[in-house]
Amino acid sequence: MKPFVVILAVVAGAAGPLASQSAPTEVVAGPPFERPPPPILDARRQALLDSVGAGMVLVPSATLKSIEGDYPQDSDFRQHNDFFYLTGLETPDSWLLLTADGQGARTASLFVPERNPAEERWTGPRPSYEEATAISGISSVILPDELMSTLQGARSLGLEGGSIYLPLNDRTRGNELIQRLVREFSVRARNLDPVLAQIRLVKDDHELQMLRRAIDITAGAHRAALEAARPGMYEYELEAVIEYNFRAGGAERVGFPSIVGSGPNTVVLHYDKNRRQMDEGDLVVMDIGAEYSYYSADVTRTIPVSGRFTPRQREIYELVLEAQRAAIEEVRPGVTVGELNQIARAWLRENSGGACGVRTCDMYFVHGLSHWLGMDVHDVGDYTTPLAPGMVLTIEPGIYLPEENLGVRIEDDVLVTDSGYELLSRNAPRDPEQIEALMNESARR
Ligand code: GLY
Ligand code: MN
Ligand code: MN
Repeated sequence: MKPFVVILAVVAGAAGPLASQSAPTEVVAGPPFERPPPPILDARRQALLDSVGAGMVLVPSATLKSIEGDYPQDSDFRQHNDFFYLTGLETPDSWLLLTADGQGARTASLFVPERNPAEERWTGPRPSYEEATAISGISSVILPDELMSTLQGARSLGLEGGSIYLPLNDRTRGNELIQRLVREFSVRARNLDPVLAQIRLVKDDHELQMLRRAIDITAGAHRAALEAARPGMYEYELEAVIEYNFRAGGAERVGFPSIVGSGPNTVVLHYDKNRRQMDEGDLVVMDIGAEYSYYSADVTRTIPVSGRFTPRQREIYELVLEAQRAAIEEVRPGVTVGELNQIARAWLRENSGGACGVRTCDMYFVHGLSHWLGMDVHDVGDYTTPLAPGMVLTIEPGIYLPEENLGVRIEDDVLVTDSGYELLSRNAPRDPEQIEALMNESARR
């Protein structure tokens, strides 16, 4: 556990309380990155063509960012989710073309730029065409220059009556080729996004494995943060413990900027500056998610910085927790996200008494209960779709009382199963007694 020792030393030099009183929970390193295996990728492509019927599907990859210009924002490259979902490839400036004649004849072709040794000096080696085939399971790998002629050829192979599905969104509005195809195919150019979104909504076995790993890493980070939290620490120190645990667990990056908001910042829903020094008696909301192999977790815990909830904090905490339980217990195939939202709100309306003053506490639950979870933290998919096995969603009620600087959010990641649900984020402590016991145990060490 050498890196762990190094991190402690760095933090000790920067600010006292974290380093001198606590240590991050031991992190188990695992494989750094896992691609979907070719048979899974093929099943996804077949499912897409099943939805489309006869026609063509064209999916662009992401493009390489300017290494100089874009550095402050992010690393030089992250593949576009749809392209990665269907190919497993992280090559930029590439295209996937799928065709189906509606009679059972189907093709898949990849258009991948030639390797460029000068560029690879900066970004590292790209897969060769043979490697691209081995990763994706697609045997036809050719230059992007061939794309237009291949499309014309596919058209002449009896596909002229079919539609062409293209991603039509803000990202592709400026893409010359896509806009040209939209003009050429006119009414037969269809938006691919909602079709693929409905397929991505139900996670396959590989996706569930990746999500479980992202969520387990995130739950471990919550446990480490629980043990580390002390009055006097800066929010960013807690963020450092969390993100150390992400990376040490093999997560590539954060699925979204970590929210570590204490005291007055607990009522700011997407606070991610993480600059405040935490005081005795504060709550801190930690809304965090590791991204592992393109899949993101999203788990929120709210804990008392000093290791004990005040009676008032506990009152609000338990209302949120019970509203969450009420909704989670109803997760099963056939129910909708809208219905779950109503269940949580009704629970708060009927059970909050005077806890939130003259209004009931549901009036202070100022965001939605759930979103889909997957490659995007707010994953794609139509929210009117009834739940089905394999879907993954968050359940995240909150109560925010700005006049008291008191905010509580509890967020878990839930898999819909054949008969109900599985709480994927169960390893992140949530029960208030357990939170207090763990915090006080670690304070005595
Ligand atoms: N972490 C952002 C959200 O919960 O939606
Ligand atoms: Mn969320
Ligand atoms: Mn969240």
